[in-house]
Amino acid sequence: MEKRFSKIIFDTDPGIDDAMALLFALRSPEIDVVGITTVFGNSNVDATTRNALNLLYFAGRTDIPVARGAGRPMVNPPGPTAEWVHGDDAMGNIGWNSQLNPAQHPVHRHAAEFIVENIMAHPGEITLVTVGPMTNLGLALQLEPRIAQNVREVVIMGGNVLASGNVSPFAEANIMGDPYAAALLFSAEWHVTMAGLDVTQRTQMDTPYFDALTLSGDPFGVFVSQIVRFYQGFHREWYDYKNGAVDTHDPSAIAYLIDPSLFMGEYYSIVVPVSGPAEGMTIADRRGKFYKTPKVNCLMRVDSTRFLDLYMQRLTHDE
Ligand code: RIB
Ligand code: CA
Repeated sequence: MEKRFSKIIFDTDPGIDDAMALLFALRSPEIDVVGITTVFGNSNVDATTRNALNLLYFAGRTDIPVARGAGRPMVNPPGPTAEWVHGDDAMGNIGWNSQLNPAQHPVHRHAAEFIVENIMAHPGEITLVTVGPMTNLGLALQLEPRIAQNVREVVIMGGNVLASGNVSPFAEANIMGDPYAAALLFSAEWHVTMAGLDVTQRTQMDTPYFDALTLSGDPFGVFVSQIVRFYQGFHREWYDYKNGAVDTHDPSAIAYLIDPSLFMGEYYSIVVPVSGPAEGMTIADRRGKFYKTPKVNCLMRVDSTRFLDLYMQRLTHDE
């Protein structure tokens, strides 16, 4: 496995698969989570911030700061949140309707300020990982454009090159959540890797996989197999997936950071329409002739077997 180490700010809208990704990161020695920034998306930002705090409490990592972020897109009117995918508590209806530990609080900084301060204080060190609508990154870029030269890299879960959209025929949910912010992100001069639907729908966890997580007795593995039940119902009803299978969206971004050799990427410039029928689409210039924006490392293929083995190993072994 190609070894590398990343200090990340995890920008997230937890969310079941966000939780799956965060626990994966917290169990991986290749990753140091230096902060969590929250955003609306799978639910409103009050709920996603509460879930971020609860996840850290559950994981015994209340040392990691949480900065609450945007509650709505930068320009477009707010769209629907996704409780029908993630449950009323956005955590699979496990009853996370309040904070587990009321003594925990987000830091007194907006997520965008937190991102700017951390990147500018540690030039070239911080990787931004965004697995929700990209509003906090868009706001951070407006606040301090030099973060583009000072970030190490940006990894997003979002978008789709050849795969169909999941919230419109063309668009993926995180891009559609704030297309204007995504357009800013794709036009900035920084190195972006896009783990989009082309790969995240190619790796699926199913009931036997979750049973193995449960049987391990590891608290992280057991927790994931609990929160995922609601998500399995969504995938069964919406996609007609069999055997309790679910897509592995947000964990794909973390898998890429741990071991990039799990994926094969292609470099394309990307443009995002901010309105109209193609709103939120990530149009990739596959001929390399039409757009001048920086080329994005679009992940197109994944070694799902090795990815699933890695996730299982990390969620069932606390070392
Ligand atoms: O399209 C998948 C993305 O939308 C994931 O980040 C999931 O958490 C939802 O926000
Ligand atoms: Ca997410």
